[in-house]
This record gives sequence, C-alpha cells and structure tokens, in this order.
Amino acid sequence: MTRILIEASNVQRRYRTGGTDVHALRGVSLRIHEGEFVAIVGASGSGKSTLLHLLGAVDAPDSGKVLFDGNDISGLTDAQATLLRLHRVGLVFQRFYLMPTLSALENVALPMAEAGVPTTERRTRAQQLLSFVGLGERASHRPTQLSGGEQQRVAVARALANKPALLLADEPTGELDAATGKALIELLQSLNADGLTCVLVTHDPALAQSARRVITMRDGQIVSDTPVAEHVVVPTAGDEQTANAASQPASQPASQPASQPVSQPASQSASHPSSPQPSSKSAATAPVEVTRRPSLTPADADAAFGAKE
Ligand SMILES: Nc1ncnc2c1ncn2[C@@H]1O[C@H](COP(=O)(O)OP(=O)(O)OP(=O)(O)O)[C@@H](O)[C@H]1O
Ligand SMILES: [Mg+2]
Repeated sequence: MTRILIEASNVQRRYRTGGTDVHALRGVSLRIHEGEFVAIVGASGSGKSTLLHLLGAVDAPDSGKVLFDGNDISGLTDAQATLLRLHRVGLVFQRFYLMPTLSALENVALPMAEAGVPTTERRTRAQQLLSFVGLGERASHRPTQLSGGEQQRVAVARALANKPALLLADEPTGELDAATGKALIELLQSLNADGLTCVLVTHDPALAQSARRVITMRDGQIVSDTPVAEHVVVPTAGDEQTANAASQPASQPASQPASQPVSQPASQSASHPSSPQPSSKSAATAPVEVTRRPSLTPADADAAFGAKE
C-alpha cells in the first residue's frame, strides 16, 4: 500500500449561527493514500463539504486532527493554510469561481503568479494545462464566453497549476449536463491514472461509480467506506458499448477512458500503461506535468509549515 497522504482523526465541526448549533461533523476519521480516487456521497447537509474543506485546510476542525503528508494542518494560520492550498492542494468547486475579468489563460496562471512563478513560465504552463483539458484554443476567452463544462475544465486546469499532490472537488459535475459531466469524469480518471490523488464530493452516481472507493456520510458521520467493485464510466445515450469496454476490476490501475475524452489529455508519464495518449485530433496537446513529486520538499515544508510552533 502506498503511504497516507491525508488523514483525519476524530474531527468535529460545529457551526453556531444565531441560537442554532449545527453539529456538521461528529467525529470523522479516515485515511486516504497516495493515488486513491475517492468519492464522498451522502444526503444534503450530511457534512460532505465541511469534511472536504477540512481536508483542504479551507477550514479547521473544532477538535480532532487533520494530517497532510504527516503534518498536522488542523491548526495552521491563515497564511500557512493559503500556502498549503497554493502548493499542495488543488480545489475545484461546483460554481467554478473563475475571475470574470480574466481570460481562461490568466485564470489558470493566477495561482502560479501567487506562487511567484516567473511570467513566461506561467504563461507556458497555463497554455499547456488548457491544452491538457482540451481548451488550448480558448485561452483568450473570458469565463462568460465559455460553456459551463468549459468553465469547469478551466477550473480543473487552474487547480492543477502548481502541481498539487491532492485534488479536492466539491460537486464538480453538479452544473453540467450528462455528456459534459462524463467528459469531466474521464478527465479526472486520467489525472488519477497519472498519479494525482483525487477526493470528490458528489451527488452524481456516475461520478461515484467512476471512483475506486466510496465514502458515505450521514448526519456528520461516515456510515460506510467501500471499494468500488467496477471502475466504470456510466454511458450517456448511445454510448453503451464504450462504457462496457471501460469496466475494470477495482484492483487494476484506473482505466483508460473508454471513448476519447473531450479533453484528450496528454501524459508525461510514458511508463504508465493506462495513461491516455493524445489522439491525432489533439495536435495542439503538449505534454504537461500534472503532479509534482509526491512528498513535500524541505522548501515546501518551510513554506507551508515553517512558521508553526
Ligand atoms: N457556514 C455555515 N454556517 C452554519 N451552518 C453551516 C455552515 N456550513 C454548513 N453548515 C451546516 O452544516 C451541515 C453540513 O453542511 P455541509 O455543507 O457540509 O453539507 P453537505 O453534505 O455538503 O450538503 P450538500 O450536499 O447540500 O452540499 C448542514 O446542516 C449545514 O446547514
Ligand atoms: Mg456540499
């Protein structure tokens, strides 16, 4: 088994608004190893987003601990949490949160600017990432000039900007139609096949089935945590054959998407047998490094945790 990337131990989170006290997480513990693809499901209000926010240091627990790569992130200062998110965690939300006045390219480049990546390098990488998600020719478009699915793919590209170890996505297909959602699922599967650890919150059964492990929450607790027997891409209308071809046992590496993903992502890890290969249709697709080395470098650790204690 690979090592643990993120671990929550008995985390609790209460919200107090007005006179009401909501116990959003009632002692949640879980471990996620490098390379996993996990879906978190459950009824509305069961605590899924709250848990995801704790895993990404967007929020802190009232009690319990969250360890990222062995480091306790439950008590980070705002500045430390920002650095951790900038360098190690990619976040994708249901409503994209793209900057409306910036082009797709500028949106993707923004986290790199915040991380101090030189201008030329960040423009090159932003263009590569847009090509990776199939939007190389939309780089100059503003979010309002893109479809919902295209905006979500820009959000994924932006989340990958600084080569995170972990991608956290909250309802990434929530606002997409079935076909666009399927393309996004395939993109996430290909990222996972390239080594990116993915944790997704979803109400979408297709997306949950595309994961390898499904965690179900109810009333602020985990009520089940099970491997997915079949790693599938659920078909859209008229696509049954390719979906069947995609089915693989959960113990196998993530499948190559059954049909060529809209994004036609490129892979740098040529040694990975399941990595999607660029098709002839994706001449503009350039190799792009998705994830950084799996563990924190001393520089990362200093940046993210250095001022602690
Ligand atoms: N900022 C907040 N202030 C007060 N209560 C909150 C806040 N955020 C969440 N809650 C409450 O905490 C509980 C868990 O919320 P959470 O957003 O984690 O649920 P969820 O499982 O993501 O739901 P959904 O599927 O609807 O997105 C809910 O009862 C919610 O009302
Ligand atoms: Mg939610």
